[in-house]
Amino acid sequence: MTTKKVQRIGVITSGGDAPGMNAAVRAVVRQGVHHGLEIIGIHRGFKGLIEDQFSRLTARSVSGIINRGGTMLKTGRCPELKTPAGMNRAIAVLRQLNIDGLVVIGGDGSLAAGAAISKRGIPVISIPGSIDNDIYGTDETIGFDTALDTAVEAIDKIRDTAISHERVFIVEVMGREHGFLALSVGIASGAEFILVPEIKYDTASLCRDLKKEHHRGKTSIIIVLAEGVGNPYQLAEKIKQNTLLEVRVSTLGYIQRGGTPSGRSRILACQFGARAVDLLVAGKQNRLVVIKQGVITDIAVADAVKKEKKFDHALYAAARYLSI
Ligand code: F6P
Repeated sequence: MTTKKVQRIGVITSGGDAPGMNAAVRAVVRQGVHHGLEIIGIHRGFKGLIEDQFSRLTARSVSGIINRGGTMLKTGRCPELKTPAGMNRAIAVLRQLNIDGLVVIGGDGSLAAGAAISKRGIPVISIPGSIDNDIYGTDETIGFDTALDTAVEAIDKIRDTAISHERVFIVEVMGREHGFLALSVGIASGAEFILVPEIKYDTASLCRDLKKEHHRGKTSIIIVLAEGVGNPYQLAEKIKQNTLLEVRVSTLGYIQRGGTPSGRSRILACQFGARAVDLLVAGKQNRLVVIKQGVITDIAVADAVKKEKKFDHALYAAARYLSI
């Protein structure tokens, strides 16, 4: 069987935006131009695809975006795509557009959507883009490094006021139902405690440990709490009642998703974008571009969708010793 030569590819950003997505779009477009392809940018994620929102992209239409957070294509979540009617419509639009290869940039939901499209006969290559860094098979996702720096910078500021007022701060970071971002943020900000969904904690022993730290002379304490663990305000109340320490909550929220992408997020995005196009040109489909121990490679999307990324328990333990 001979593979049809790829001539026209689409690129889409989907799910939560992540700093570096623009750099990835730019890389897809320019690598595509390098291979002599036509590139169609799909706007507003899969919702935009279903609603026929797209434009032709050229090397010039992606000028000046490598340094910009967010995504110039815009993005969104699209529950309709999970319905047979929504998927049929998406396939119909891709066929009408004569798209013979699609690059999907996004998190786990987007990878699942890409895999479903690939099954319907349109080759898809996916790129992991998410601040959560929760995708199986890749050491890093686009945007994670930037979000990490953003959160650490914010916590450094919170630390100043925590020290001045001798308070405990619970700082909530994003990460959906995982603690990958929280663990990295906690280590880099020297947090005394890191609470993640992957490791059960017990409020009574946390309160005992907080009192111990306080008696040992730690007058400011930062607890980094992954959003998937639970309500930070309820935890703050329990800590106040059990320890009589002054506790405040700070939710970092969406500032973690925005801002200028770090050099590292940009480089990763450039590498991922270029590799995705090379894979389409080589006739590959249903692959996820990943970085493993510094090497850019690709794995089956099905693996990434099915398997859970392993949480680094040793690093988690080390974080606790290093914060005494
Ligand atoms: O997946 C990225 C992320 O920012 C998660 O950390 C967070 O739980 C979620 O998206 C929020 O999604 P939305 O912006 O759709 O509410």
